[in-house]
Amino acid sequence: ILSMTCHVLVLVLCLSAAEDFDWTKNDRGSFYYGTFPAGFSWGAGSSAYQTEGAWDKDGKGLSIWDVFSHRKGKILQNDTGDSSCQGYYKIKEDISLMKELKLDHYRFSISWPRIMPTGIKSDHVNEKGIKYYDELIDNLLENKITPIATLYHWDLPQVLQEKYGGWQNISMVNYFNEFANLCFERFGNRVKYWITLNNPWSVAVEGYETGEHAPGLKLRGTGAYRAAHHMIKAHAKVWHTYDTKWRGKQKGLVGISLSGDWGEPVDISNQKDIEAAERYVQFYIGWFATPIFHGDYPQVMKDFIGRKSAQQGLGTSRLPTFSSQEKSYVKGTCDFLGIGHFTTRYITQKNYQSGHGSSSYFTDRDLAELVDPRWPDPGSEWLYSVPWGFRRLLNFVKAQYRNPMIYVTENGVSEKIMCTELCDDWRIQYYKDYTNEMLKAIKDGVNVRGYTAWSLLDKFEWDEGYSERFGLYYVDFRNKNTPRYPKASVQYYKRIISSNGFPNQREVENWKRKATETCSSSNQLLAAEEQRSTAANILRLIHDPLTSHMEMVTEVVVPTVCTLCILLSAVFLMFLLRRHN
Ligand code: NOJ
Repeated sequence: ILSMTCHVLVLVLCLSAAEDFDWTKNDRGSFYYGTFPAGFSWGAGSSAYQTEGAWDKDGKGLSIWDVFSHRKGKILQNDTGDSSCQGYYKIKEDISLMKELKLDHYRFSISWPRIMPTGIKSDHVNEKGIKYYDELIDNLLENKITPIATLYHWDLPQVLQEKYGGWQNISMVNYFNEFANLCFERFGNRVKYWITLNNPWSVAVEGYETGEHAPGLKLRGTGAYRAAHHMIKAHAKVWHTYDTKWRGKQKGLVGISLSGDWGEPVDISNQKDIEAAERYVQFYIGWFATPIFHGDYPQVMKDFIGRKSAQQGLGTSRLPTFSSQEKSYVKGTCDFLGIGHFTTRYITQKNYQSGHGSSSYFTDRDLAELVDPRWPDPGSEWLYSVPWGFRRLLNFVKAQYRNPMIYVTENGVSEKIMCTELCDDWRIQYYKDYTNEMLKAIKDGVNVRGYTAWSLLDKFEWDEGYSERFGLYYVDFRNKNTPRYPKASVQYYKRIISSNGFPNQREVENWKRKATETCSSSNQLLAAEEQRSTAANILRLIHDPLTSHMEMVTEVVVPTVCTLCILLSAVFLMFLLRRHN
């Protein structure tokens, strides 16, 4: 009832609100025909643990995700990334998919434990792991695809978690720096775009606050802030390492990839809602971006967490502080800002009392999140399609951080359909509308240089296992060869790329029809293929116990019965002989 009331409230308010709000000059609903600046870079992305598989091959060490996903009950259906898309064995095949799309760049991540099995350089460097990334990078370059490498997409070496408590411990700063330095040394002659950390918000909140992600800690009210503090310092250190040791020679750029949902005030005439929405965004992207661009946490985080900590009777704030040296060390450590963006929320003010032990990142913000029930919600529960929120977020970043160079490092949508579906018209719609809002943002003056569709392939979606498919390419995980099939969105994205935008209405209107022309027939073929492989699997399952049963009969039962027969006959014979005598 409460959520219904909220939805109705949202409906009423959003109908009456926002129309003359500054950023809606080009109107939320209207489509903008035009093209992107020359040289705009189009790409797609992936991450190591989500796609590589080969979790224990060629000397790779364990990551916290290997361990976490093997613990029962942590991942939907107890799925793991053990083999995933088998990307480790499919460099050439996957690059041919990128060629098909005519991508300018490919964003991937380097698995720390694959090249440093314990996470500690002095323990061991795994040359076989280095070789894999060498090959990937070389093949990309041979195909004129720019590699964008992420150094940390959540797969911390397990040893560092066990020995030190992972990101709870300040020692991660040096260990991460050594790992990054090795990557610069070995790959930096070819990789010119580096992303230190991917989405530290998720690592902090889901890894150390709610425990839904590895390492699964529930240190409410403190864990996320500590982890974030160390990650910000680790990012800054790696940027300085590159700046002082490698930049002169290698001439690359080092950035960070931050995720940020947009928060829109429920009632734009209500000051409290406006402030709550601002807080939502500041506690999200601002938590990391403000120290990196301005040297310290957003004032509103310091105020709210500080006040609530005092109300709890704590002597110091649960939000750690930067010393003045640290502030200047952290400030300005970003050559470009990576943005991962998927969705938007309506925000209203809501007070939470800070009692003993009840504090958390979520209650610190004093707000409630709402959604408009009319927003399309095709896949992941949290992912509503709200394209205009993207433009607002990009404008916010421009205004807050002095118009930095931006690469969109993740944007896309999933589907939750369990049966095969290559005709993903909702994804076509999502990409069309979100990239169009990005184009409007560029026209607003936001300095966006590239866009990365998330993701190239269906893959392991963290605690949701394989149930949420974000790929442009469908991956058949039931087949042990994990074949890839293009969804209709591949055809559509390809057209956006080849036209570098949306040239004119007549042309663009045909794209969707053309993109979906063949998908239903390929759908049928794929479904039949999947049925065949499922049937083969079932047969194998039936066959296996049958064979072992037969083996048991011949190897154990038959000899035993024969021996018994012989013994019985002997006893019977002796009995007969005795009677005869
Ligand atoms: C952000 C994460 O960085 C990425 O790994 C994940 O697939 C997407 N969110 C979608 O949930």
